[in-house]
Amino acid sequence: MKSASTHLRLSLFALAALAFSGPAALAQSAAAPNPSTGTSASPTAFTPAPADTIPDNEFGEMVKKGQRIFLHTGEYASDYVGNSLNCVSCHLDAGRRKNASPMWAAYVLYPAYRSKNKHVNTLAERLQGCFQYSMNGKAPPADSETIVALQSYMYWMAKGAPTGVKLDGQGYPRLPEPPQKPDYVRGQQVFEQNCALCHGANGEGQHVNGKMVFPALWGDDSFNWGAGMHSVATAAAFIKANMPLGKGGTLSDQQAWDVAQYMDSHDRPQDPRFKGSLEETRQQHHGGEHDMYGTTVNGKMLGADSTPSGGKLSGQKQSEAS
Ligand code: HEC
Ligand code: HEC
Repeated sequence: MKSASTHLRLSLFALAALAFSGPAALAQSAAAPNPSTGTSASPTAFTPAPADTIPDNEFGEMVKKGQRIFLHTGEYASDYVGNSLNCVSCHLDAGRRKNASPMWAAYVLYPAYRSKNKHVNTLAERLQGCFQYSMNGKAPPADSETIVALQSYMYWMAKGAPTGVKLDGQGYPRLPEPPQKPDYVRGQQVFEQNCALCHGANGEGQHVNGKMVFPALWGDDSFNWGAGMHSVATAAAFIKANMPLGKGGTLSDQQAWDVAQYMDSHDRPQDPRFKGSLEETRQQHHGGEHDMYGTTVNGKMLGADSTPSGGKLSGQKQSEAS
């Protein structure tokens, strides 16, 4: 157990970091007005509606509901969330921040074919996947209020954007392959110097008065082996642009790759598509160069002893079933 004063110090540090990241975010949303969409090769710039302009009507109520779910997912969508993460843990600034996979840029790209499940996904199905994997939970029904609210929030934010266009700031900007192969030991050093203070020495995150203030990077309270962030390439891209919080862009590409390699070489909840065979799951859904699932690190095969997916919900399911 950490002492209360340690927690206080850490949460003050968090506030400072958030305050530090605030002006940058504001500057971003106040960026140049949306130029007309030409055929130029550079990505189309777009500025989402200001956060305080949600309309004061029935539609606005649904948008606000979606925003609440986005910010406090476990609280407002508790039936579908198995860990302590929120959507905003990975989509910063309430899903507004460029290069943190913002929701306004996502909205205009669906329906879309996804190689992950080999068919055209509606936005609703894309959102369901976030609950199953990133939130280590289960999919809300496509017509549930949870999905309708999130879609309304995204639609409102994307108002005026062209559809079917990759907007500037969409996704997490991919990094080129690193000069040196990503390395666990170097990654551990980056982690200890730049991340552990907030995310905990064991990547377990931190709670203050039962409330998560820093999300878990691995272990049972984090995203599961099916989530996009388990890919070292995706994690490196997110980390380079967004971490340490408030200091995005300060790590070198190599440091981002190394710390992503370290983070994703730890165990986490099982892939929900696992049906008993690690090898089969690895062959069907994993196995890329930057995918550590089913590989051996420090003598331990990752995924072999993972806690079943579903986290907090799995106990609940049992009691509901009886
Ligand atoms: C553990 C981190 C994490 C959490 C938590 C998370 N996501 Fe994501 N999300 C990702 C990653 C990684 C991607 C893929 C982005 C990429 O590869 O560029 C993604 C992609 C998306 C996309 C598609 C973006 C696009 O441009 O196509 C949407 C929509 C989305 N997430 C919504 C949500 C919602 C809603 C929640 C909460 C219910 C959520 N996410 C929680 C990591 C996360
Ligand atoms: C100042 C505190 C702080 C530092 C330092 C920091 N983070 Fe974070 N990190 C956060 C917070 C807070 C969030 C969630 C963002 C939000 O809710 O707005 C987060 C989110 C994340 C996430 C996505 C959510 C999850 O749990 O998977 C990853 C991955 C991550 N950080 C990795 C790192 C890495 C790697 C480093 C070091 C290079 C680092 N962070 C340094 C505070 C920090």
